[in-house]
Amino acid sequence: MCFGSESSPLILPISALILLMSHIFLYGPPGTGKSTIGKILARRLRLQFTDLDRLIETNAGMSIAQIMKQQGEPAFRDLETAALKKTVGQVSDLTNSPDKVIALGGGALLREENRTLVESSGSVIVLRAELSTLLERMKNDSGKRPLLAGDLGSKLTALLETRKEHYNSFSLNILVDHQTPEQNAHQVQVVLGRHHLSAMGEYDVIVGPVSDLANLPMQNPLVVTDEQVAKHQGERLLSFLQDAGFPPKVLTVPAGEAHKNLETVGSLWHGFLEQGLDRRSTVIALGGGVIGDIAGFAAATYMRGIDWVGLPTTLLSMVDASLGGKTGFDLPEGKNLIGSFYPPKLVLADPQMLKTLPEAEFISGMAEVVKHGIIADPALFDLCAQGLDCIKADLELVLKRAMAVKIKVIEDDPYEKGFRAALNLGHTVGHAVELVSEFHLRHGEAVAIGMVVEARLAEKLSLASAGLSDRIAHVLAGLGLPTEVPSDLPRPEIIRAMRVDKKKNAARIRFALPVDVGKVELVEIADLELVLK
Ligand SMILES: NC(=O)c1ccc[n+]([C@@H]2O[C@H](COP(=O)([O-])OP(=O)(O)OC[C@H]3O[C@@H](n4cnc5c(N)ncnc54)[C@H](O)[C@@H]3O)[C@@H](O)[C@H]2O)c1
Repeated sequence: MCFGSESSPLILPISALILLMSHIFLYGPPGTGKSTIGKILARRLRLQFTDLDRLIETNAGMSIAQIMKQQGEPAFRDLETAALKKTVGQVSDLTNSPDKVIALGGGALLREENRTLVESSGSVIVLRAELSTLLERMKNDSGKRPLLAGDLGSKLTALLETRKEHYNSFSLNILVDHQTPEQNAHQVQVVLGRHHLSAMGEYDVIVGPVSDLANLPMQNPLVVTDEQVAKHQGERLLSFLQDAGFPPKVLTVPAGEAHKNLETVGSLWHGFLEQGLDRRSTVIALGGGVIGDIAGFAAATYMRGIDWVGLPTTLLSMVDASLGGKTGFDLPEGKNLIGSFYPPKLVLADPQMLKTLPEAEFISGMAEVVKHGIIADPALFDLCAQGLDCIKADLELVLKRAMAVKIKVIEDDPYEKGFRAALNLGHTVGHAVELVSEFHLRHGEAVAIGMVVEARLAEKLSLASAGLSDRIAHVLAGLGLPTEVPSDLPRPEIIRAMRVDKKKNAARIRFALPVDVGKVELVEIADLELVLK
């Protein structure tokens, strides 16, 4: 047993007009806040919101209590089914049915017909709460809820008991107790793996299958990938694009950091021209962080900027590199020295892609997942503590939680003017160690070492309690990541590399230091000798 299962106005080819509906249905007992949370969720995801009970009342011209009284529950359920069909787009034209957030009545899915309809057109999230929470929330309005009229306590207890098995039969659920509606809406987003970013450009970040690409209007797409990824994942994407009516256009570059350079970017620009890309075309970056960075940069600069979509294929790129809109390439003088902030139109992370990722790359990516746990999600850190097997058994949840941390940070500080620097946790030491190892250490391995060294520094400065670095090291080691600076790497060179990496000859260097699991502080350090002591 691992852990508890909380579980442009562009013209489209006709075939791509068959949109996949992916509505979000909020369901669960009365009083859990489906309508309040639904409105917040819809606002955050830029989707329409429908409250099914209010719609039924509007359609009927009377309250639900009156419908029940005058026509009985079976007649109300018929109205509910009719309203649901119309809302999810079964009755209206499919292509005119963009995704919606729909708050359902507490018993709307008791009918098998309704359940089949919603499960085939989106995701159902059940909101759950303690009886005491529900009673407190409903004590003043139970009169509006005909099934709970009379003694609220005993009626609600009986209703929850009767529907217990039914609510338990849905796999996605969240607990709403002791949290604000805003926090609950965020929780729903994490469970769904669905976000809309707006701090730097407007785009969606979605955890889902490649077929979700069908939801994005695009023209004349071209796939940029590397030789390794093309071998393992290229065919699936190309056949999907072909089925959607797009001719297969691909540019494949050699894999690896050594090719994240101007020469490769130049080859992409020429390839775009040869393949007939114009200002309305879309580049699809299929690959790890290297591909995202160079394809994004080539798109940012081609014809003064064309649309691009990120399809990350490594764990690191899903939880980190694909999020935040940074694109660029390396110079012989250093990594990522040339670049731009240029967000994609969509980031689509398909966990299935990770099935072909080499184990060493997966483990390296786990360092960034642990990092996100330390920055802001202690529960994610605890999941990481359970080891690789457990993580792989519930990979989608781990992915979604780790992505949510980075999304929150970059939305609050898109251009790295302040707290976004928290994402550098482990990286000040990590980059230096990576460089001095002449890249024999993978990025994630170096970041793992960096996190432990920086946690020790926080302890030395009395910013963190003794034991934090051991706790972090234990989790990282359990995942197969190194936690000590290799003895053959000269300390003076690492210190020199830290200075050069940040700002030549800077007197003080800013570190993102862990002060607890779930909390990081930005601290200026002058005495770099102290870091490695
Ligand atoms: N833009 C940003 O904000 C940001 C953030 C962090 C890191 N980065 C950049 O990301 C890069 C590192 O990214 P990375 O770790 O993903 O490395 P990568 O892109 O080099 O991929 C690692 C290796 O895995 C292979 N691979 C990728 N997906 C695969 C799959 N599904 N199946 C089989 N093989 C697969 C690739 O071919 C490559 O050989 C660095 O250049 C770093 O600077 C960018």
